[in-house]
Amino acid sequence: MPAELLDGIAVARAIRDEVAVAVAAQKARGVVPGLAVVLVGEDPASTVYVRNKGRACEEAGMHSVTIRLPDTASQAELLAVVDQLNADPAIHGMLVQMPLPKQCNADEVIRRIDPAKDVDGFHPINAGKLLIGEKDGFAPCTPAGVIELLKRYDVPTSGADVVIVGRSNIVGKPMASLLMQPGVDATVTICHSRTRELPTHTRRADILIAAIGRPKFVTADMVKPGATVIDVGINRVDEPRAKNGYVLAGDVDFAPVSAVAGKITPVPGGVGPLTIAMLLKSTLVAASRVRVA
Ligand code: GUN
Repeated sequence: MPAELLDGIAVARAIRDEVAVAVAAQKARGVVPGLAVVLVGEDPASTVYVRNKGRACEEAGMHSVTIRLPDTASQAELLAVVDQLNADPAIHGMLVQMPLPKQCNADEVIRRIDPAKDVDGFHPINAGKLLIGEKDGFAPCTPAGVIELLKRYDVPTSGADVVIVGRSNIVGKPMASLLMQPGVDATVTICHSRTRELPTHTRRADILIAAIGRPKFVTADMVKPGATVIDVGINRVDEPRAKNGYVLAGDVDFAPVSAVAGKITPVPGGVGPLTIAMLLKSTLVAASRVRVA
């Protein structure tokens, strides 16, 4: 029997509908949740993400601002925009879309964002809060979306062996932190490019999370029969016959793996839509922390 599909579009829809209801409640107390997205340059994938984030905000009834800087923008210009958004009371959440052009230093930019507005959860303060289990920070949106997906499909995590392939600051590491939290209670292994005998690790996984950024990296022989497979990868693979000249492929070799797995996320339509839904949710949370007189 092929694996059950975990429908990220449907789960994201449900979250966005819940957020829209809560946005209305914030508005009723005089706070309009506001998100600012800063885009430097014209990277095609980033341009699409940023447009989608703005539209999703508006659909949820939020205030949305997109600030576009040319790809020649200096670090000082970018920091000045961050400072201005930090000081703007109409903005509760902000993010600077990555990657940045090479003259900009992403680490310095991230550290300049007020942690209380860092809805990406990239600031070291928020990374630290997540690790030590303090709930008043922000978790990065993609791993937070994976947790929501597991919860809403009743995938058991308590005591489960979860293997994450990938150790990035955006996905792998915060994913591990979230899975270890009391209430989630997974046993977590992080694998990476220097891991020995990778399939030995992945085949132990009740839940296997692929976040490597290499198309079709996870093959059927790496998956335990019946496991839940979460594919965080979104890779552009050249395909001359496709309309745009490329197709999207996940980090998981979908067809053969879905014959072995119990549950699996597709790409597209799996984890991707959840990232935006969780960004809206974090912006709502940021706004809800604002005190009104
Ligand atoms: N680029 C790709 N994913 C992300 C994300 O989640 N946040 C930001 N700021 N940039 C990204």
